[in-house]
Amino acid sequence: MRIALLGGTGNLGKGLAMRFALLGHEILIGSRREEKANSKADEYRREVGGGLNIKGMVNEDAAKNCEIAFLTIPWEHAIETARMLRHVLSGKIVVSPLVPMKRSGDIFVYASNTSAAEMVASTLQESVVISALHTIPATRFANLRERFDWDVPVCGDDEEAKKLVMNLISQIDGLRALDAGPLSNSRLVESITPLILNLVHKNRIPEAGVKFL
Ligand SMILES: NC(=O)c1ccc[n+]([C@@H]2O[C@H](COP(=O)([O-])OP(=O)(O)OC[C@H]3O[C@@H](n4cnc5c(N)ncnc54)[C@H](OP(=O)(O)O)[C@@H]3O)[C@@H](O)[C@H]2O)c1
Repeated sequence: MRIALLGGTGNLGKGLAMRFALLGHEILIGSRREEKANSKADEYRREVGGGLNIKGMVNEDAAKNCEIAFLTIPWEHAIETARMLRHVLSGKIVVSPLVPMKRSGDIFVYASNTSAAEMVASTLQESVVISALHTIPATRFANLRERFDWDVPVCGDDEEAKKLVMNLISQIDGLRALDAGPLSNSRLVESITPLILNLVHKNRIPEAGVKFL
């Protein structure tokens, strides 16, 4: 598939870009700056051994040219980016990994009354929003030598689009996508991430994903 990673120059975008590219997908790295997108695309191509289809461009071109887009931008800026791109994302599946989270002292807290995915859906009324990937620790995920076995809860109201996203995610070795119900359940899934971070920091354990056994 032709996959846009909007803000794909950051932590989560890197792992997604390299791992989807290794599976043969065409990857469009989006950024606010074309130069940064190109330089990150070069870096990712080098890490996966070159010759693979990873291109850099501004977010708008990535959104325009993709079949499916991942909104890999910090949540406090992602909604505004989605609003600016709503026309070019119209009719497309948009995946939200957004986690509304803040720090209160040394504690991570969930920082919204509404899920980020529902905020994206109300901004992108002509797109199909699916919520996924919140619990993937980006640094470990972007290390291609890393082996993992993680579940990925996926929420959405369009069953066909949800299945497509689940299939795409499950193509990545070590990830198992699980149906977590409608988009209104996204808040439950998004709030697992501050829980994980509190567990990691308080107990000094490595970055962790989730597995439902
Ligand atoms: N990090 C994780 O472990 C992790 C795990 C699961 C889910 N998530 C979620 O995934 C999303 C991305 O996380 P991340 O850690 O990859 O983020 P990040 O590395 O901090 O940022 C990703 C990209 O967002 C773009 N960006 C920053 N400020 C922006 C603004 N004001 N307007 C538009 N674009 C802006 C930047 O791209 P350009 O400068 O190139 O435009 C940046 O490279 C977040 O919503 C997060 O909650 C993260």
